[in-house]
Amino acid sequence: MTASTKTAKLELNGKTVDLPVKAGTIGPDVIDIGALYKETKSFTFDPGFTSTAACESQITYIDGDEGILLHRGYPIEQLAEHGDFLETCYLLLYGELPNAAQRRKFDHNITYHTMVHEQMALLFRGFRRDAHPMAVMVAVVGAMSAFYHDSTDINDPRQREVASHRMIAKLPTIAAMAYKYHIGQPFVYPQNNLSYAANFLRMCFAVPCEDYVVNPILARAMDRIFILHADHEQNASTSTVRLAGSSGANPFACISAGIACLWGPAHGGANEAALKMLTEIGRPENIPSFIEKVKDKNSNVRLMGFGHRVYKNYDPRAKIMQQTAHEVLHELGVDNDPLLQVAHDLEKVALSDDYFISRKLYPNVDFYSGIILRAMGFPTSMFTVLFALARTVGWISQWKEMIEEPNQRIGRPRQLYTGPARRDYVAMTKRT
Ligand code: ACO
Repeated sequence: MTASTKTAKLELNGKTVDLPVKAGTIGPDVIDIGALYKETKSFTFDPGFTSTAACESQITYIDGDEGILLHRGYPIEQLAEHGDFLETCYLLLYGELPNAAQRRKFDHNITYHTMVHEQMALLFRGFRRDAHPMAVMVAVVGAMSAFYHDSTDINDPRQREVASHRMIAKLPTIAAMAYKYHIGQPFVYPQNNLSYAANFLRMCFAVPCEDYVVNPILARAMDRIFILHADHEQNASTSTVRLAGSSGANPFACISAGIACLWGPAHGGANEAALKMLTEIGRPENIPSFIEKVKDKNSNVRLMGFGHRVYKNYDPRAKIMQQTAHEVLHELGVDNDPLLQVAHDLEKVALSDDYFISRKLYPNVDFYSGIILRAMGFPTSMFTVLFALARTVGWISQWKEMIEEPNQRIGRPRQLYTGPARRDYVAMTKRT
């Protein structure tokens, strides 16, 4: 954070308070209100945190008006085109792109942590087969702290690093196990000679009774989807991870909390909801009546995969996702997928409609991702699981940054209380 000579003045009850203004590398300045309560006995009120920066971070930068996303300064488009997911993981965790030796060491560390404790298979067997895989993810990732005690001391930097590597390495194995369990197939062990994405596809789609060769185009697409979901600064699930971690909770418990938050349809559940919406629309001729429903304030229908708290322009990830959708569908020989046609037409109609233009609603990362994942063979119930897998590196990088912050304190928001004032207990016989 750059020191600034600027101050903001706040007048309240005849008193003027000077509030320091701080500047980041890029992006809006922040008004430091840390001393506000001490000075004025007032809180600020910002439900949904629309104007509140809850931390200082050096990991990810978003300019929502311009549609820019940078990880450690590098544009997402360049990382998706020239890099791969493990390189992005290294960048997010350590702050720089790895050199060749660092990359080899990191790949080795991740690859040799991909197996999970064998007793975890028994844990899975306690779930109903029809359990949603996200429910299983919340539980099993939380349970990692019961299996890996030796990396739960948050005050030991080496244990923090091992826990980070374990989560990046094991989440694909756990996600694939959740899928296999759901469909009643045997678990497939990881294979160390495959890339991160190829290994994940094999653990999901191979069966012991036949050979499985990973399609390199699909592996590259999977890897790119992972890159596009790797981090997104202080979104709801990341803030959940930071808040959970601020109390000193162990990293596995914090990531489990992040997964629980991600599950909601306004966040990571949106890709599942977007595909469901496209399927329900079904044909381009049904688009106008659907758009009317979305615009009707009483309908509670939203155009899923559209709109974003921060992006008031095209989500840069949505562009790459759209291109990836074409590559995958072409490779699988389904270029004329009717849902892709519906998505294209729906996007065109929405982007020329005043309702969406005036509210700056554009496609987000989830608008096209469901079409790709479905074409690859994933059921909708797995979509958010894949998002959680990829976002784990972002969560763990943000958690690590928070723990390493010298002035880190427990997160404890305040409130505007609007309930009853003090009153006396009423005996049951006197209650109406
Ligand atoms: N469809 C229709 N109208 C919308 C949509 C949408 N998808 N998104 C926002 N609006 C409208 C709201 O009704 C509101 O209109 P009003 O001003 O007339 O009342 C206005 O746009 C502002 O919307 P808010 O809900 O205040 O915006 P907020 O920043 O709180 O919400 C959110 C962002 C949750 C992403 C929202 O756009 C949404 O629900 N989108 C659909 C779900 C989705 O795709 N989520 C994925 C987000 S990306 C991610 O998590 C990876």
